[in-house]
Amino acid sequence: MKPSPLFLTLSPLFLALTSSSSSPSTPSPSSSYPLVVDIAPSHLRPYILPRYAGHAIKLTSSGQIIRFSITANSSAGAFSLVQHAGKATGWTSARPHTHRRVHEHFYCTKGRVELWTKKNVTDAVDEARVLTQGDFGTAPPGTIHTFQHTDPDSQLTHIYNPGGFEELFQVFSLGDFESPHGAPYELVEEDQRPFGDATPEQEAQLNSLDLWIAKADVYVPRRDFVNGTAGDPRFNWHDGNNSLSSDPTDPYYIAKDYGPKYLNSENGYKVIQPLLTASQTPFRNLTVGTITLSPRRKGEKANVVRLENHFAMQMDEGQLALTIQGYERELLLQGDVAFIPAGTRFEYFATVPFTKFLYVNAGERGYADELLERAVPWDFPVYPA
Ligand SMILES: *[C@@H]1O[C@H](CO)[C@@H](O)[C@H](O)[C@H]1NC(C)=O
Ligand SMILES: *[C@@H]1O[C@H](CO)[C@@H](O)[C@H](O)[C@H]1NC(C)=O
Ligand SMILES: *[C@@H]1O[C@H](CO)[C@@H](O)[C@H](O)[C@H]1NC(C)=O
Ligand SMILES: *[C@@H]1O[C@H](CO)[C@@H](O)[C@H](O)[C@H]1NC(C)=O
Ligand SMILES: *[C@@H]1O[C@H](CO)[C@@H](O)[C@H](O)[C@H]1NC(C)=O
Repeated sequence: MKPSPLFLTLSPLFLALTSSSSSPSTPSPSSSYPLVVDIAPSHLRPYILPRYAGHAIKLTSSGQIIRFSITANSSAGAFSLVQHAGKATGWTSARPHTHRRVHEHFYCTKGRVELWTKKNVTDAVDEARVLTQGDFGTAPPGTIHTFQHTDPDSQLTHIYNPGGFEELFQVFSLGDFESPHGAPYELVEEDQRPFGDATPEQEAQLNSLDLWIAKADVYVPRRDFVNGTAGDPRFNWHDGNNSLSSDPTDPYYIAKDYGPKYLNSENGYKVIQPLLTASQTPFRNLTVGTITLSPRRKGEKANVVRLENHFAMQMDEGQLALTIQGYERELLLQGDVAFIPAGTRFEYFATVPFTKFLYVNAGERGYADELLERAVPWDFPVYPA
């Protein structure tokens, strides 16, 4: 959250002296908590976590940091979302592994991150991609996966459905990370191997946290990338369409702007790019994607929404004005995360052209599905002039 050139900063004082220009909404008991927080709340309620805020822990000795943006505590178990920042490293950040109870999704928000996935069945495709900003990958339960930051300032967003896997990072934390200047990660010269073989005790503990190691006799991350992809030269990667998988147990990848796109023109323009619908997860209860919207013009209304399931947005580009029931309007910038519980009314609009956010929505049918009912297939990531 930063002051906008168009709007004064919405400091508490400013909010106290001015009335919100949004339509009045009934203050709810939740208003007794501040909306903008430094740490994801310990219970279900609306909140906005500014970029680089949140409880952060050191994941590796080479300075990688995990920030807890949405936790099982703050989402009542629906999903979790953590930011994983670091420098380029020669090592994967985790031993190759599977989860049995958790479906994990990846969205690159900065730099470059390599991601490997292989379904743990005979004859599965052993594939990998180099993700750059806006690229998506998903590893359903039973998929062997690992990841590695390969640009000097890289950040990977991990989403866990259901929530709770992040507890592992608390257990294996190398200590809390605090930076009054909001440093993305810890500066460490060395690039030591982050871990060796797990001891039987460590392995048992990892198993109890739903992490099952794929040992080197079973799986070694391949390194034969050509043009950002490995596994099968026929896979498109930033050079052709990507589609969502038809099998909810299959891992898959969508390069930024190469997946399916739809245009909704109800209230300004919205380009909707679904990255995962309920059909792509065995749990059938999550939708993930991006929405890119045009700025509100004179006479246009804010988008007014109330959803049956918990909803989160993570800002990618531009600036979003967001008013959550019971609270004053806030302005969101790249990296800010908002969490909105089921049944909570909210309003939003873009204040600048081409504002984009990642949405994560619990439940089988999400907000995007509502917008898609009144959208048309669209060949472009941008809206019309
Ligand atoms: C969730 O809440 C429990 C109980 O307060 C706490 O022990 C745990 O550390 C919290 N988890 C996270 C990721 O903040
Ligand atoms: C989604 O499904 C999983 C598996 O059945 C379950 O553990 C989780 O609680 C569900 N989440 C929601 C928000 O319904
Ligand atoms: C892969 O599947 C086999 C057979 O079901 C199982 O024994 C093994 O634990 C799985 N490996 C991982 C890493 O989950
Ligand atoms: C890699 O990209 C280059 C440049 O676009 C292209 O000429 C080459 O054919 C690509 N290689 C493969 C294996 O697709
Ligand atoms: C890619 O998908 C779009 C629809 O989103 C379609 O119009 C286009 O023909 C496809 N391109 C190729 C090469 O298949």
